[in-house]
Amino acid sequence: MAEPYKDVYIPEELKFPQTGVCHQNKSRPYVIFNMVSSVDGRASLQCSSKTDRRVMAQLRSQVDGVVWGGGTIRTDPIALKLPDDLIPVKLPVGIVWTRSGHLPGGHPLFLHCPRLVFTMAKKRSLGDLEARHLVHYVSSVEEMLFILWQTYHIKTLLVEGGATFNRLLLEQNIGEELFLTLASFLVGDQTDTILQSGLTKPLSLKLRSVKQVENDLYLRYQIIAAP
Ligand SMILES: NC(=O)c1ccc[n+]([C@@H]2O[C@H](COP(=O)([O-])OP(=O)(O)OC[C@H]3O[C@@H](n4cnc5c(N)ncnc54)[C@H](OP(=O)(O)O)[C@@H]3O)[C@@H](O)[C@H]2O)c1
Repeated sequence: MAEPYKDVYIPEELKFPQTGVCHQNKSRPYVIFNMVSSVDGRASLQCSSKTDRRVMAQLRSQVDGVVWGGGTIRTDPIALKLPDDLIPVKLPVGIVWTRSGHLPGGHPLFLHCPRLVFTMAKKRSLGDLEARHLVHYVSSVEEMLFILWQTYHIKTLLVEGGATFNRLLLEQNIGEELFLTLASFLVGDQTDTILQSGLTKPLSLKLRSVKQVENDLYLRYQIIAAP
């Protein structure tokens, strides 16, 4: 029997601000993180239930772009699919960040649609990927966000990890909301948490909502900028 799921959020709850965020005197997209964690703090995708994947799809259907760090792309067979009932008028753009440019060109994400790739690698070093996708050579994640806003009109950006990429953004005070699924597992292994260590100061979170579906909690936080 197929695993059942519930809609945790009604669409109206996921109408994100469209006005962007002022960062270093320029506009960037409104940034939303979505992660799943076990009760012992392991960001293991094995903890993700059908309802959690439905939340992911609901969030994807409400944003202009979805971005992943290269480590996640190298590890997981991510696909930017949406169920029929959640397909928006305008599909979100798939975006990948990589420092080195080492990405598996045969990854499912790169097979069917052109994607945006942002890299700190040397110009014209992404070879085959460059022939089929839009590659931007940039010097920082901030530059990527400014380009997403200005060139691609991405007003809302969903970040789907992993821990290193989350840290790169949050250490620059980039991030407005966190959707965290607290999955009812104790994993007990060495899997990372949702955030790689390296923040100079803790960020405060304001709890916006808590929803329970079966044994899992769906937490939504507003991220408060560090002073
Ligand atoms: N539980 C969840 O919700 C969830 C969600 C997503 C992912 N995950 C898990 O997270 C793991 C992957 O996470 P990860 O932390 O290894 O990788 P990641 O966060 O997905 O990717 C990190 C990216 O940042 C780049 N980078 C690293 N240091 C940098 C720096 N100083 N400046 C600029 N860019 C830099 C890396 O470049 P390079 O490409 O050159 O390495 C890489 O592209 C996987 O196991 C995945 O399953 C869990």
